[in-house]
Amino acid sequence: MPSMVSLLPTTRCEAVEGRTIRVDLADTDWDNLGFGLVPTDYMYVMKCTQNGTFTEGKLQPYGPVELSPSSGVLNYGQGLFEGLKAYRKEDGSILLFRPEENALRMKSGAERMCMPSPTVEQFVDAVKLTVLANKHWVPPVGKGSLYIRPLLIGSGPILGLAPAPEYTFLIFVSPVGNYFKEGLAPINLIVETDFHRATPGGTGGVKTIGNYASVLKAQAIAKAKGYSDVLYLDSVHKKYVEEVSSCNIFIVKGNVISTPELLGTILPGITRKSIIQVARNQGYQVDERLVSVDDLLDADEVFCTGTAVVLSPVGSITYHGKRVEYGHRGVGVVSQKLYCALTDLQKGITEDNMGWTMELN
Ligand SMILES: Cc1ncc(COP(=O)(O)O)c(C=O)c1O
Repeated sequence: MPSMVSLLPTTRCEAVEGRTIRVDLADTDWDNLGFGLVPTDYMYVMKCTQNGTFTEGKLQPYGPVELSPSSGVLNYGQGLFEGLKAYRKEDGSILLFRPEENALRMKSGAERMCMPSPTVEQFVDAVKLTVLANKHWVPPVGKGSLYIRPLLIGSGPILGLAPAPEYTFLIFVSPVGNYFKEGLAPINLIVETDFHRATPGGTGGVKTIGNYASVLKAQAIAKAKGYSDVLYLDSVHKKYVEEVSSCNIFIVKGNVISTPELLGTILPGITRKSIIQVARNQGYQVDERLVSVDDLLDADEVFCTGTAVVLSPVGSITYHGKRVEYGHRGVGVVSQKLYCALTDLQKGITEDNMGWTMELN
């Protein structure tokens, strides 16, 4: 297959339990991966016509796509995306984490946005194919993961406000390291009291592209003041915590872990769902409920979850100029325990009794 970038893999040898494993890797600076785009070799493209069926998806070199100026996505924001990761196991093989959950979330988002969507099987097969075609870009153990970005867009031309006549499902990938510049150190959040991310009846509960451009302003203001990101409140009472721009939030008080319930205004995170299960398995009580700002400021520990951020401890929250610190700048015991339990599962270090990981050969 043709390529757009340097394809020459370097061979890296990893010593695993006395054996030497050969892993062929692309030529990039594996020690300094952040969460920036590193173009890889192939992307996957599948089109769907008016009868709503996706057919004949294929890999092609990663590069620009042709789009009509009057496409539904460019004019009316008819688009969804997903995010999941592939991890390198110590034996050199590759693991996906719950890809069918992303397929299901894309399906329900597509329903909300009046778009047809690939079947779960089509979605998962396409993810597997794309990762395998780019397997030299899956970072070695300890250096990061391969971030997988599926997109579903209204690619057909339309002028009057209506669903587009044609859709494109596309997947590209990029090796990534830590999402926040703090790495795994606790992040500092500010509670946003002016801007809102979502409203009841809106699209906050689906991963539509428009939800993200609208948070850039609040995020930019917060970052300019030195905060890592913004924590949004509900737009009706301006009192209940919702989520961060790209992750869900949890608070810990004693042996009880709480997270905002899913009422349509926050994204049903797959990491959120997984952490709830992992925490319950470890004997914690986990409540999905309304979490007020007072609950948040009174918590013992706070952490965020998401595919990109994994589990990120929160070191401080600022609300109306008042700063509350958690864990004395260290990582809380519960956050640390859950982080290890989740990442050990994702990387195949502990046995997966839940059937959450999918091994690629
Ligand atoms: C707004 C928002 N909330 C939460 C999440 C976390 O979801 P997940 O754990 O599925 O990555 C994401 C990231 O996808 C997000 O964009």
